[in-house]
Amino acid sequence: MPRVMAEEIMDDPGQSEGDFAAALDGLERLNKLTFAHAPLLRFLDRLVSEQGLRSLSLLDVGAGGGDALRAVARWGQRRGITLDLWGLDRSPWAERHAMASGTPAQWITCDLFDLPADRRFDVVTCSLFAHHLEDAALVRFLRWLPVHAERRWLILDLHRHWLPWAAVWAGTRLLRMHPMVTHDGPVSVMRGFDRADWGRLVAGAEVSATIRWILPFRWAVSGPGA
Ligand SMILES: C[S@@+](CC[C@H](N)C(=O)[O-])C[C@H]1O[C@@H](n2cnc3c(N)ncnc32)[C@H](O)[C@@H]1O
Repeated sequence: MPRVMAEEIMDDPGQSEGDFAAALDGLERLNKLTFAHAPLLRFLDRLVSEQGLRSLSLLDVGAGGGDALRAVARWGQRRGITLDLWGLDRSPWAERHAMASGTPAQWITCDLFDLPADRRFDVVTCSLFAHHLEDAALVRFLRWLPVHAERRWLILDLHRHWLPWAAVWAGTRLLRMHPMVTHDGPVSVMRGFDRADWGRLVAGAEVSATIRWILPFRWAVSGPGA
């Protein structure tokens, strides 16, 4: 079955700050419950060990409320790595939420494709963002990533499968999450990916990438910078 591109409420720019912030709080809770940032931290561990790095700049695309950046900041403190962290999100509510939550990062509020080509970072990452893009935009994004990443890039996103769909449908309702999250959660899984999707998208973009399935029902797609 192909990706089902039903609309997500979060992508409607008319959302109020209160609703958007409540949805970001719900996402942060889900991220904690699913250990969503663990694969990013393992990826960074490998990178700094392999390349012997003591400092790193990192851009999180579609950074939402900034919880991944806060997790990276804690990781950097534990590992003694000096970090230059950046968040990018097109919603102004995301920046306000991330700053109010004490995210130790600089912030860019724009559509990712408006970022000037000379803005480069050691690592460019994104989590639960890629499924927001239609296939053609995703191919463009896969080409965009090595342009902005000097060392490596990493996409973490959802596996389109009935099991996570059912878990997200039931979990968001049991936890009485905001209506935007109960709606967008299952829709996000349907907009997610199977291995064939990633094979096709990576081939279409003509980039070098490694595609790995990871728990809990996610894809980790990564590649070298240009
Ligand atoms: C589902 S949220 C994920 C937030 C966060 N990464 C997380 O894991 O909780 C997706 C975010 O991507 C942002 N977004 C969607 N399309 C975008 C685009 N074209 N450029 C920049 N940000 C975008 C949305 O505003 C939203 O904050």
